[in-house]
Amino acid sequence: MRLSSRLPGTHRDTTPARDHYHTAMPPAEPTQGATIAQTRLALPLLHRGKVREVYSLGHDRVAIIATDRLSAFDVVLPTPIPGKGRVLTALSAWWFRWLQARGLGPTHFIADEPDLPQAAFALPDATPRADLAGRTTIARRGEIIRLECVVRGYLEGSGWKDYRATGRISSIALPAGLRQCDRLPEPIFTPSTKAEPPEHDEPISFEQAAGLLGADLVADLRERSLAIYNAAAEHALSRGIILADTKFEFAWPVDREKGAREPMLADEALTPDSSRFWPADQYAPGRSQASFDKQYVREYLMGLVEGGLWDKSAPGPLLPADVVAHTAERYEAALGLLAS
Ligand SMILES: Nc1ncnc2c1ncn2[C@@H]1O[C@H](COP(=O)(O)OP(=O)(O)O)[C@@H](O)[C@H]1O
Ligand SMILES: [Mg+2]
Repeated sequence: MRLSSRLPGTHRDTTPARDHYHTAMPPAEPTQGATIAQTRLALPLLHRGKVREVYSLGHDRVAIIATDRLSAFDVVLPTPIPGKGRVLTALSAWWFRWLQARGLGPTHFIADEPDLPQAAFALPDATPRADLAGRTTIARRGEIIRLECVVRGYLEGSGWKDYRATGRISSIALPAGLRQCDRLPEPIFTPSTKAEPPEHDEPISFEQAAGLLGADLVADLRERSLAIYNAAAEHALSRGIILADTKFEFAWPVDREKGAREPMLADEALTPDSSRFWPADQYAPGRSQASFDKQYVREYLMGLVEGGLWDKSAPGPLLPADVVAHTAERYEAALGLLAS
């Protein structure tokens, strides 16, 4: 029997998908803007992801709006994290500019100022324009390449689990005797499938990815991913943060007939949602690390799972206020340290 329905405030989803996420909690501070769990605009909605909502701005542009939703174990939790969408937007924008300035490949990024037509707000219940400030990215529209391009420099998460079981990650053999969170001899590319919920992304080998997408494309994505990881990890370390691992999505620009035939970095870049960030001064292998990402939430949720109170299926449990506040703080801290 699923026990999650016994938790105060958890609920089974009986509402249509569009209304699944509760909107508009009162802002913690008026200057910070509303907490946004879902948006509504008079623009074609291309995709409502776990965290972001993608609207069409014509055939070759999109507006990507980062809400304050948090997903863990591929389940969107019912409690949003105030300000999280703005942190993700600002940090991604900072990295996109940084990567472009260093010639580390094209990205989808155009602007992080909401430049949305007035018509987008022509609905009685449209999200107010002011609430989108700081959480909207204008991007080149792409066809997403169906591969999660994961790079690991350290041994944690599913990589640690696979290593313990097989001595390998993604069919890459690693030295024996590594401890949890140890630094790997060199960063490795360990792709996953990009599944549609409720399916989970599955780690696959380079050869399996090559079977799906072609060896040349996967080799190209591996090279881009490792180059971005290496540069970003060096920057992060100079700011006191270990970039333990991260995940990229690449896309074919739909405007590629205009000359750009290379895959561009899309989605988000090097955020606490897509990466593990550890404070370097507290790093000690052999155990899990303090972090600037959602590890704190994951550990809280694992406590519920171990206590038989949640089975990792949707809907997830509500988060207590202290977990929400701690997580919001960690996300803000990552932005403050890295984007400088
Ligand atoms: N430039 C782009 N063009 C089209 N789609 C994009 C672009 N960048 C990101 N996306 C897609 O937008 C969605 C972002 O929402 P997200 O919450 O990350 O979704 P998911 O639940 O798939 O992780 C993803 O499906 C991503 O693949
Ligand atoms: Mg995503």
